[in-house]
Amino acid sequence: MSDRKKVYLTRELPQEAMDLLKSKFEVEVWPEEIPPPKSLLKEKMREVDGLICLLTERIDREVIEAAGPQFRGISQVAVGYDNIDIKAATEKGIYVTNTPGVLTETTADYAFALLMATARRIAEADRYVRSGKWKIPWGLMMLLGQDIWGKTIGIIGMGRIGTAVARRAKGMNMKILYYDVVRNEKAEKELGAKYVDLETLLKESDFVTLHVPLLPSTRHLINEERLKLMKKTACLINTSRGPVVDEKALYKALKEGWIWAAGLDVWEKEPTDPDNPLLKLDNVTASPHIASGSIATRTKMALMAVENMIAILEGKVPPNLVNKEVLKVRPPTS
Ligand code: GLV
Repeated sequence: MSDRKKVYLTRELPQEAMDLLKSKFEVEVWPEEIPPPKSLLKEKMREVDGLICLLTERIDREVIEAAGPQFRGISQVAVGYDNIDIKAATEKGIYVTNTPGVLTETTADYAFALLMATARRIAEADRYVRSGKWKIPWGLMMLLGQDIWGKTIGIIGMGRIGTAVARRAKGMNMKILYYDVVRNEKAEKELGAKYVDLETLLKESDFVTLHVPLLPSTRHLINEERLKLMKKTACLINTSRGPVVDEKALYKALKEGWIWAAGLDVWEKEPTDPDNPLLKLDNVTASPHIASGSIATRTKMALMAVENMIAILEGKVPPNLVNKEVLKVRPPTS
């Protein structure tokens, strides 16, 4: 029997990352595109030394408690990790890692692209041309959008990605407001971002863009009451996590014209149902959770996840450890 450590992957990774992982460990991969069932995850946790997973896997307490004594770590291929019960992992001495940094600029590119597409109705214009609605040569009042240049952007969550969005906004000569639970003085100094309370941000911004993690305190952060504070001409952009926005309230806001449009890359349930009423609205620009999805970045994320797993299984402190308290429960061995 081989004494190589075993790693289970819930999805195939790009070749470079697979090759690196296979050079070190015995590797088994869930062969489908949909997440593996919970029963299989539990079985694998009993057998293997490490798990590499995506944000679609629900790694709850029950899954974590199924881990055998040999199991050391979970390496998530994403920056967000709200799908993993971190407290349960820490209690059991399981290391959890993520992939921050490498996706910051790519995600900010996409958030800004979605902002521009929403303001200038690009997806709607595409549907308009394809469906044969374009009948007059040039329409003075055809598919009019909102200006972006020189307008006010309100960034909720001024971490790595929020700050990268602010840099793009500065290039568009926008006024930058932000709200976060902590001040970002660097962004204030370097980008001229102004710290305001949430209410002021919602009232004064032409574009509100979300860059917070999903936490109990951010679930439905954008609700009916807060949507009512926004400008009637404002656009809401969400590339963070779907449940940060109350979709029912957003539907009302868009349908009844409390706000002008929304660009949504993330949804309360993913994949969102094709019958989701939001998809019936022309003032919604929709995409399927692809903000970090450039070819180069997805490869970097996979490699980073593999490097984290190698460090975990070599008994080291992995570079992107999320639950630092675990080091007291299970100290590194080298
Ligand atoms: C994607 O949503 C991520 O958290 O990396």
